[in-house]
Amino acid sequence: MLAAEPVKIGQLELKNRLMMSPMCMFCSDQTGLALPFHQTHYGSRAIGGIGLIMVEATGVTPAGRITHEDLGLWNDRQADSLRPIVAQIHASGSKAAIQLAHAGRKCEDEAMTPVAPSALAFSEDYRLPQELSPNEIGEIVDAFAAAAKRAAEAGFDAVEIHGAHGYLIHQFLSPLSNQRTDAYGGSPDNRLRLLREVLSAVRAVFPEERPVLLRLSASDYLPGGLDLTRTIEIVQQVCDLVDAFDISSGGLLQAPIKTFPGYQVSFAETIRQEAGVLTIAVGQIRTREQVEDILGNGRADLIAIGRELLRNPYWYLQQYQKELSAAGQIPQPYTGGF
Ligand SMILES: Cc1cc2nc3c(=O)[nH]c(=O)nc-3n(C[C@H](O)[C@H](O)[C@H](O)COP(=O)(O)O)c2cc1C
Repeated sequence: MLAAEPVKIGQLELKNRLMMSPMCMFCSDQTGLALPFHQTHYGSRAIGGIGLIMVEATGVTPAGRITHEDLGLWNDRQADSLRPIVAQIHASGSKAAIQLAHAGRKCEDEAMTPVAPSALAFSEDYRLPQELSPNEIGEIVDAFAAAAKRAAEAGFDAVEIHGAHGYLIHQFLSPLSNQRTDAYGGSPDNRLRLLREVLSAVRAVFPEERPVLLRLSASDYLPGGLDLTRTIEIVQQVCDLVDAFDISSGGLLQAPIKTFPGYQVSFAETIRQEAGVLTIAVGQIRTREQVEDILGNGRADLIAIGRELLRNPYWYLQQYQKELSAAGQIPQPYTGGF
């Protein structure tokens, strides 16, 4: 029953090794506020015992959202709307984190101009983005920091920087989407610059004892794109600023991806071994057998569960019912149901 073992990310102690994977719900109002739906949605997964609840990708600027119904964190009203969610997560003994994101060229909101490292569209169905100037890049770095500061004030125990799935930071990291010739492109170090600037700026304002996580796509699954070897180097070059790496893959461009249960675990495993960092494995992990296998074999430190938790907020309580009942860890009001 390794899932139920406490784990520390930096100085943050989690009651178990399970994380609710960040999942955009696209159901905020158009101002980026968290609504009663979000309160119930995240609160119920905390009642369901998940140790770390990761609130979905939240835009650091209006144009940084994928759609106009994403959550936002560029003003204080938005931070205030998240506060009760944090409180409810804490009331269940779980910890609260929030994923900070900028969609870059994947912004689909017609009212916004999509921006990117280079004027290259994601696909024929997407608009051509505007290439960011160095000044505009600086403003986005500042926006990440301001959002992290608001997240701290709202009570979040951790933040995760979204560096995966073809969104802005990933667009800068991959040579397939970054064709700049200034300080932000042209070499691996230059393509890494935005990520390091974002992490440094966030680390400077986020309370020292609270962890900063980073989600990366370990492969673009395309020739000339990011691969595991390059991702290990990236991890080594930012691990002084990051407490745990949440390892996903893909999303930069349409690519042939073979998916199967646990298909991304080997990325998390290799990165953990090669870079000596804490990793979170994610992707089609649905059963306690998979969870115990991954943790027991030392392939990752934590497991993120996504869609299984959309289907069933009480997945963990059901999968581990016997042990949690014996340990008195079923939420008291629900013991009759278990
Ligand atoms: C509805 C939905 C929304 C998602 N939104 C996000 C997101 O906001 N940020 C992110 O990093 N990944 C997002 N993902 C990816 C999930 O976090 C997760 O990595 C993926 O679904 C694979 O895990 P699973 O097989 O357990 O669902 C989303 C996935 C789904 C299904």
